[in-house]
Amino acid sequence: MALTASLLLRQGLLYSARSNFIKASTATMVMQSRSRHSDPLPHLPVPALEDTLNKYLRTVKPLVTDDEFRVTEEIVNKFKAPEGIGPKLQVRLEQRAKARENWLYDWWMRSAYLDYRWPVVVWSSPGLVFPLQEFKTLDDQLSFAAKMIVGALDYKRMVDEKIVPVEYMGKDKLDMSQYFNILGTCRIPGVTRDSISFFGQEADPPKHIVVAHNNHFFKINVYDKNGNTLSARQLVHLLRNVVERSTHPTNPVGLLTTQNRNVWGKAYKKIRKDRMNRASVDEIQRCIFLLALDGPIVNPTGNIMTDAALNCVHGNGPEGYAGNRWYDKTLQFTVGKKGAVGLTYEHTPAEGPPIANLMDHIMDFIAKGKDGLEAESKQEIQLPVVDVPRPERLMFNVSQDIKLEIEDAKVSLQSLVDDLEMTCFNFTGFGKNFIKSQKLSPDSFLQMAIQLAFYRIHKEPGAHYESASTRKFLYGRTETIRSCSIESVVFAKTILDPEAPVSQKATALRNAVEAHKNYVKSAVNGHGVDRHLLGLKLSAIEAGFDVPTLFMDVGYIRSSHMRLSTSQVPAKCDAFMCFGPLVPDGYGCCYNPRPDNIMFGTSAFNSSPETDSATFRAALEESLMDMHSILLADGGIKSKL
Ligand SMILES: *[C@@H]1O[C@H](CO)[C@@H](O)[C@H](O)[C@H]1NC(C)=O
Ligand SMILES: *[C@@H]1O[C@H](CO)[C@@H](O)[C@H](O)[C@H]1NC(C)=O
Repeated sequence: MALTASLLLRQGLLYSARSNFIKASTATMVMQSRSRHSDPLPHLPVPALEDTLNKYLRTVKPLVTDDEFRVTEEIVNKFKAPEGIGPKLQVRLEQRAKARENWLYDWWMRSAYLDYRWPVVVWSSPGLVFPLQEFKTLDDQLSFAAKMIVGALDYKRMVDEKIVPVEYMGKDKLDMSQYFNILGTCRIPGVTRDSISFFGQEADPPKHIVVAHNNHFFKINVYDKNGNTLSARQLVHLLRNVVERSTHPTNPVGLLTTQNRNVWGKAYKKIRKDRMNRASVDEIQRCIFLLALDGPIVNPTGNIMTDAALNCVHGNGPEGYAGNRWYDKTLQFTVGKKGAVGLTYEHTPAEGPPIANLMDHIMDFIAKGKDGLEAESKQEIQLPVVDVPRPERLMFNVSQDIKLEIEDAKVSLQSLVDDLEMTCFNFTGFGKNFIKSQKLSPDSFLQMAIQLAFYRIHKEPGAHYESASTRKFLYGRTETIRSCSIESVVFAKTILDPEAPVSQKATALRNAVEAHKNYVKSAVNGHGVDRHLLGLKLSAIEAGFDVPTLFMDVGYIRSSHMRLSTSQVPAKCDAFMCFGPLVPDGYGCCYNPRPDNIMFGTSAFNSSPETDSATFRAALEESLMDMHSILLADGGIKSKL
């Protein structure tokens, strides 16, 4: 069967194409690929200029006045005219695409992540909340943490052995390279630009994890001297040792990683001047992943899902567990004292799906008792835990100067924590089964519900980002789905019009869902608007040209000020991903559609008087229920005829 076949990806190729800001390319990963899977993935296309600009105009229309639209049209016409700058940039971009395996890969990594100077906390790193656990004792907490570690290492084994099933979108194989990029990876701060290191792909990859407790960091080798993974029971023993040796909080050096990246980049240079610090930082950066043992939730909101989400996203700041983290690390699990469990991941190397799959694997591994912990503790005579070296404390020599940096980080992070508010919930009215029964795409349906919720609150449409996967292509990442469309506005207006008959509402709904579905189709096939326009803009910058007027126009600015930042991240279990808004007056909304319910993580900023996540939740639930009853009512009418 196709699913058991090894990965077709030849990771080695990726490195030759990467420029030097991506380090640790000593990897000798040569993917063996069975012949029928060895056909290479297609390259990301460069769409035709005319096609992109026509699509672009349609997405601008709902967001500007008629006068503004005429100006945008004029600018677009000048841009694309034979003597305009557009065709010249298009030629440059096509040349770049011919010379590379993925024309966007490096540019995207840089412009979306490594050059982005705002904190990764809230602004970039998503949280993933696992199904809620219930811990009564420290033992419960440590046992779960140990099982999680064993489950994650089992996943790593599958990645290393290249037996993670190749994913498909319809009949098309997807690029699997992101799976290799999440373990043993770390973002490295720089003064003006960060870099990323894939330590897991070095010839001698790391064999340790780092466990954080009370802001202390400990290194744990997770393989014994024969190369076998430690058992969950051995890990419980080591975790208990960590807890016993870190009963009081220490200087929260990890808080530095929550800073603006330039500020952290400078502090990073200072901290590395000390040899001991350098060694400790190296161990943290190189580890396979980090696991943070937290206390109980601080400042609870009363909604346990929201509390767990906030703890994943920002650790509840300096008064909470933000110092018990290293936010540069790609993968950081968090295990709270009472049962809030999750992870936060640094977004540079991967999108959500590989991370959600890792979680599903861990939860399934634990549910099936594969960690062996329960079986072992039932044995009558338990063998003593021998031969495991105790965890190594990673020490920091915190100078006065670094103390001041930490104080600054506290202030900055606290204001970010105070600003972010979230509302996470389990929508139980219906799930994707109902939507499918109406012959509609569940994702497009949910996206239209989000548009409708925004319109309901703000009485105007909002520019709306949804990420689409371009993993059909070699090293593909994402394209933007511009979910706000001419059809979505007609739909929102019609639904909210008390005079409109049900049949008209249902038609508007179906049209909007269909239009969205078509955009998705273009986007996943590399024919969206945003990445192409970014390519043209970066081509101009690289050639030393002025940035074209197109990118300064109100139509461009308004249609890319994404007041809704959304993503579907499906998971097998009742988990959900969550993140902050993309813009100060926007919302974040991530969802996991399940057969009969939908998990939502929504967010907004307190500093914007216009947005509020609880209001958004109410509008979203109302919109979903309206859409549900309209379809039923319309179906009822039809079946009578
Ligand atoms: C800590 O830093 C100070 C000042 O740089 C230095 O004098 C001292 O030797 C360092 N201590 C250790 C244990 O490295
Ligand atoms: C969400 O709702 C569904 C359907 O009512 C229920 O089965 C599930 O347990 C709920 N999950 C959570 C995490 O509340």
